[in-house]
Amino acid sequence: MPEFTNPFIGVVPGRKMTESELLRALRLDLSAEEEAVHIYLSHADATDHELAKKVLQDVAEEERVHKGEFQRLINLLSKEEEGFLAEGADEVNAMAAGKEPPDQTAPAERPTKGPTSTIGDLKGQGREG
Ligand SMILES: [Fe+2]
Repeated sequence: MPEFTNPFIGVVPGRKMTESELLRALRLDLSAEEEAVHIYLSHADATDHELAKKVLQDVAEEERVHKGEFQRLINLLSKEEEGFLAEGADEVNAMAAGKEPPDQTAPAERPTKGPTSTIGDLKGQGREG
């Protein structure tokens, strides 16, 4: 929400953003668009003033277009983004079809089969001499 009371908000540092900082900034911009949609639609729902309702709903739709612009830019800058989005969509599709969602753990992170480690396995580790 507006932070106009902070005089340092919007002050540009003496350098340009790195690509990773830009990507994080765009994620924040994307979430701001989502918040704007929520706010405008809730305000439209909360009034009986027909013109205000119409304008608020129209602006909310414009914000949804902005969301698409930011998401597309993020997808172009983050090569794996579309893969994550597709994975999320697949999980919901599976649940909507009444199936278990696919395993979310990346293969390298999945626990290996074999004996389970206990605290006893760790005794003596990390000691020198
Ligand atoms: Fe916007």
